[in-house]
Amino acid sequence: MFRLKMRHLMCMVALLAVAKLVFGSVNSFNDDVLGLIVFKADVQDPAGKLVTWNEDDITPCAWVGVSCNRRSNRVTELVLDGFSLSGRISRGLLQLEYLRKLSLASNNFTGTISPGILRLSNLRILDLSGNSLSGTLPDEFFQQCGPLRSIALARNSFNGQIPSSLSSCSTLAALDLSTNQFTGSLPAGIWNLSGIRSLDLSNNMLVGEIPENVGVLNNLRSIILKKNRFSGVLPDGIGSLLLMRTIDLSENSFSGKLPDTLQKLALCSYLDLHGNRITGELPAWIGVLKNLETLDLSSNTFSNSIPATIGNLNALKVLNLSMNGFTGSLPDSMASFTELLALDLSQNSLLGNLPSWIFKFDGHQDDTFSASFGSQISTATHTVSQKLQVLDLSNNAFSGGIASELGDLISLQFLNLSGNSLVGTIPSSIGKLKTLAKLDLSINHLDGAIPVEIGEVVSLQELRLESNLLSGNIPTSLGSCSSLQVMILSHNNLNGPIPVSISKLNNLQYVDLSFNTLSGSLPKQLGNLPNLRSFNISHNNLQGELPAGVFFNTIDPSSVSGNQYLCGSAVKKACPSVLPKPIVLNPNSSGDPVSGSSPSTLGHKKTILSISALVAIGAAAVIVVGVIAITVLNLQVRTSASRSADPIVLSGGDEFSNSPSLDGNTGKLVMFSGDPDFSTGTHALLNKDCELGRGGFGAVYRTLLRDGRPVAIKKLTVSSLVKSQDEFEREVKKLGKISHPNLVALEGYYWTPSLQLLISEFVSSGSLYKHLHEGNGNILSWTERFNIILGTARSLAHLHKHNIVHYNMKSSNVLIDSSGDPKVGDFGLARLLPMLDRYVLSSKIQSALGYMAPEFACRTVKITEKCDVYGFGILLLEIITGKRPVEYMEDDVIVLCDMVRGALEEGKVEECVDAKLNGKFPTEEAIPVIKLGLICTSQVPSSRPDMGEVVNILELIKSPSEGQEEELI
Ligand SMILES: *[C@@H]1O[C@H](CO)[C@@H](O)[C@H](O)[C@H]1NC(C)=O
Ligand SMILES: *[C@@H]1O[C@H](CO)[C@@H](O)[C@H](O)[C@H]1NC(C)=O
Ligand SMILES: *[C@@H]1O[C@H](CO)[C@@H](O)[C@H](O)[C@H]1NC(C)=O
Repeated sequence: MFRLKMRHLMCMVALLAVAKLVFGSVNSFNDDVLGLIVFKADVQDPAGKLVTWNEDDITPCAWVGVSCNRRSNRVTELVLDGFSLSGRISRGLLQLEYLRKLSLASNNFTGTISPGILRLSNLRILDLSGNSLSGTLPDEFFQQCGPLRSIALARNSFNGQIPSSLSSCSTLAALDLSTNQFTGSLPAGIWNLSGIRSLDLSNNMLVGEIPENVGVLNNLRSIILKKNRFSGVLPDGIGSLLLMRTIDLSENSFSGKLPDTLQKLALCSYLDLHGNRITGELPAWIGVLKNLETLDLSSNTFSNSIPATIGNLNALKVLNLSMNGFTGSLPDSMASFTELLALDLSQNSLLGNLPSWIFKFDGHQDDTFSASFGSQISTATHTVSQKLQVLDLSNNAFSGGIASELGDLISLQFLNLSGNSLVGTIPSSIGKLKTLAKLDLSINHLDGAIPVEIGEVVSLQELRLESNLLSGNIPTSLGSCSSLQVMILSHNNLNGPIPVSISKLNNLQYVDLSFNTLSGSLPKQLGNLPNLRSFNISHNNLQGELPAGVFFNTIDPSSVSGNQYLCGSAVKKACPSVLPKPIVLNPNSSGDPVSGSSPSTLGHKKTILSISALVAIGAAAVIVVGVIAITVLNLQVRTSASRSADPIVLSGGDEFSNSPSLDGNTGKLVMFSGDPDFSTGTHALLNKDCELGRGGFGAVYRTLLRDGRPVAIKKLTVSSLVKSQDEFEREVKKLGKISHPNLVALEGYYWTPSLQLLISEFVSSGSLYKHLHEGNGNILSWTERFNIILGTARSLAHLHKHNIVHYNMKSSNVLIDSSGDPKVGDFGLARLLPMLDRYVLSSKIQSALGYMAPEFACRTVKITEKCDVYGFGILLLEIITGKRPVEYMEDDVIVLCDMVRGALEEGKVEECVDAKLNGKFPTEEAIPVIKLGLICTSQVPSSRPDMGEVVNILELIKSPSEGQEEELI
């Protein structure tokens, strides 16, 4: 296709030559069509912009992008900007001998440009900016410059030196070579181009100095040399460029002082010298440059104070003096900056109060005056406040407070006051800044709470308040700042919980709450934040499990360290138990609706109060309120005592029949022993200090009976799952009948449809888990350990004999009494569930990580008492080795029984025995006990021994001589 076209073209060229020969000149078939068709033939035109260019046309004057002189019909302008053209710039264009303007900007032309292009003797404007042209410009490139007035080669990839032939372009008014890779120094002739008005050489790698005779360029209106490697002082000659409007010499290496002649450039509106090495003070004459809209002297080495005359620059829109050595306080005259959009004075040594003129309406405004002249006057007397978008006063020595007038800066998008010595509170008027995207008040001495109005700053993307003295809670209202990406509140005195609302902020990426005193558990929903990259909560008082999900499972441990009660793999601490899910109870429905006898009104009122106390206990995952009295137990008893005319006796005729039981309108309390002390009432307090622990089935509290005897009360969190009252009572009574020296005795229960408490014997010395892993200095001796293993085995054997499966064997369920004997608790609680559902079991017992028998995961294997044997085996190994069933290490998880099995195979099994025993153990006991443990943890349930057999084996292992003696004693 292409080749065909070319052939056609060649024919045409031949034809043209013949025609020229024959007719001399051909009006109807001019060189321009030929040139443009040849040009088009070299171009890729994916957007089809040049489809109108038809080689059969007599003139190209109607073609897109082409303009002609109307009389001669010759092409004078070719403007193809942004046509998505690519390919080489063809020599066909050289045919367009009347071309005055050639503009191919913003395409994708590649290759070098031929110097011939300037042979177009009428060319005035050449714009090839924004292509992919490359190569060096040959030295003679500009030799035939002719009448050229504007050359733009910006944003290409030209390199090498700027050709010295440039001085031939005597009529040049505009030269833009910016954003290429030109190197070396400028040809000296460039400073002789006296007609030049606009010179842009920015963003190259040019070196050299601006010569003193720069004043020759007295038509210059704009000089942009930024981002090069120019150096030297700014010459006085610059002051002769009286038409100058834009001076941008930024990001070079200019040095010395500002030449005083600069003050003559009265038309100058843009002066940017940032990123050089200019020294000295900002001279008072700066106030003469009244047309300045941008003054950027940032990142130099200016010193001394800012002159008051700066206030005369009342057209200023951008003032940037940051990163210098300015000192002193800010002149009040700056209040006249009524047009200011951006003020950056950061990183200087400025001091004094925050400038009141920023935050306030004009103090001289007379109320009656403004009232009579209407709003126009009052807006005219507004200072900076209304328009300012950027305010950066960071890293100075400003002091004092932040005035509430801050809220008047209604256009503010960026506010940075960090790194000063500001005191007082964050004004609540901050909520009025609806367009604020970044707020940084960090590293000051601000105190008080974070105002809840922060939630009204709806555009906020970045919030930094770190390293202040802020206290109080993190406001829940932050959940309304839906654009928030960065939230840094570290190193303050913030307390209370992390609000759940934070987990709505889907854009959050960086969160730092470290070094506060935040408490409570982490909202689970945080695990769903999709863009989180860093979440630092280290050094707080947070507790409980980390949220689930990849982010928190792989979080850097340093981000969560320093929270004593956090648990999960990242903190290398197995969670002691699953935190019970909050049960939401309806206080109105918790009372038994079938209440027949209603107590006195006063009593009723009290009852309701007590119910809500109970509901609070039931509903709270963590009891935050310090003390909650469960007066209801006592109250119920008292109420019944006052109605003692009809004592309630349990029917059924069993051994419990003499026990006091209460069946009021709120619940039913049954004590198996009939202990009267309980019913005469006691101030049983449930508070945090009384909480003994938590398990899969609920939290346990310690409370005292009236006679001072302690009992443990377990609040079931599975209440929504328990059976009907009848079945519940039947099962609990069955458990209450079980009695064994190594089992915790169940003493009674309390029942309502929504809340169940189990009351059991209190065992004084805490759980085996504590003794093993949270050693309080007392290390269990070998004999004590063996005794615990044996006692536990006996208790399980006893349970199994009565057809009760424990289901929840673990060291935190084995309690140690004052004489060091084990007492197993929490047995058979799964029976209280409506059915022995595998899922319910494993999810309730999942806390017992490592103790759970493999058959829980296998649907086809029946779960029998052999699951207790497995749990017992793990417990045995735990007691002998002093290690948790699963230990989280640096980057590994160690499963205890695998480790011991491995050691046995390598013949190093003694090395597994708890190092805390210092080798004080009889090997002849240790090895068989460990082997027994491993047999108990067989994968196949039928390979595990019965608990009865286990007890027999243990009794055999125990050294006969001593053992029997002990038994006898
Ligand atoms: C420009 O052209 C080059 C080479 O032909 C090609 O690699 C590049 O993708 C093009 N760029 C654009 C923006 O079309
Ligand atoms: C610049 O002009 C001056 C005087 O007009 C002349 O002496 C000098 O040679 C010129 N420099 C160049 C490089 O053309
Ligand atoms: C002020 O100048 C500094 C350094 O040149 C720059 O980083 C900062 O962004 C500027 N501030 C504004 C508001 O433009």
